[in-house]
Amino acid sequence: MSAASFDLLTTVESGGCSAKLAPGRLAAVLKGLRQPANPDLLVDITTHDDAGVYRLDAETALIQTVDFFPPVCADPREFGRIAAANALSDVYAMGGRVLTAMNIVGFPATRIPLEVLGEILAGGQEKVLEAGGLMVGGHTIDDWPPKYGLAVTGIVHPRRVITNAGLRPGLALILTKPLGTGTLVAGQRVGLAADADYRAALAVMQQLNRAGADVMQACDVKAGTDITGFGLLGHAMQMADASGVTLRLQAAQVPLLAGAHALAEAGCLPGAMFRNLDYVENKVRFAPGLDYSLKMLLLDPQTSGGLFFGVEPEQAQAALAGLCDAGYAASAIVGETVARTDYSIEVLR
Ligand code: CO
Ligand code: CO
Ligand code: CO
Repeated sequence: MSAASFDLLTTVESGGCSAKLAPGRLAAVLKGLRQPANPDLLVDITTHDDAGVYRLDAETALIQTVDFFPPVCADPREFGRIAAANALSDVYAMGGRVLTAMNIVGFPATRIPLEVLGEILAGGQEKVLEAGGLMVGGHTIDDWPPKYGLAVTGIVHPRRVITNAGLRPGLALILTKPLGTGTLVAGQRVGLAADADYRAALAVMQQLNRAGADVMQACDVKAGTDITGFGLLGHAMQMADASGVTLRLQAAQVPLLAGAHALAEAGCLPGAMFRNLDYVENKVRFAPGLDYSLKMLLLDPQTSGGLFFGVEPEQAQAALAGLCDAGYAASAIVGETVARTDYSIEVLR
């Protein structure tokens, strides 16, 4: 069998960021871990941020993050690119730039030709180079199903760190990539997704958030994240709670991948959507009569999803223009922040 013909999706039930542990269960375990406070630790695990940030001196803070998962697509090269773009994204979500990356690999000693691993690593390397970073090493174990990702180191100015906790009332909320990657991948697996729609989803997952981070910094953004396994509402809730504000989202304004809504209507709902609904349900107010498929797509687990951030309203159009120029054609204003109500998020029709 040649590397190109091995279908990685035959190795997994749920790949990509759908493979994350349920967020509520994870939180229960993390609560038990304590460490002494340190003034140079600018961002720690308490705010559910994308990466840890540690101040080295007045000009430089270190960003450290790690992400890996089982295959989300059939082709090894594309899997490598997607897993790397997803891992690099957590540096961008903090407003930083990438310095170095290390491979994290689980791969079976037998059962899959070794050339497949070569393709995965080549895909990852492409994205690290595109990010302007250097691949400096890695670690492999004999494992099934295969898993791939990166540990990434970046830097940011200590006063330019973008976090979950920086929202305040009165900001416009922007999402840079369309939702629906989980649904399109699930649809592909059961033969319901149109090929062009599935290819578009793969392209979106391979797109770096690098230029989006530049736009956030140019617009002096203080709060942002990237949308991954917990879906738009899961990550939005973490930002709302960390910041002590409420997010008012306009469901109809949220960009969706072509074919995602039709697949949801056909009952193609990844299991992780329900896990995410469970996570946010008590803290989100859904408008009566909100379209059910649309509601579930707001919970769709994204792999290598877009950036989601709050920006001063007068900067919002400039941010959108910058994002469109940089190739994020689906970018949209999807809501606003208001003073905290009884809910973390209010979803309007
Ligand atoms: Co993230
Ligand atoms: Co992450
Ligand atoms: Co090692």
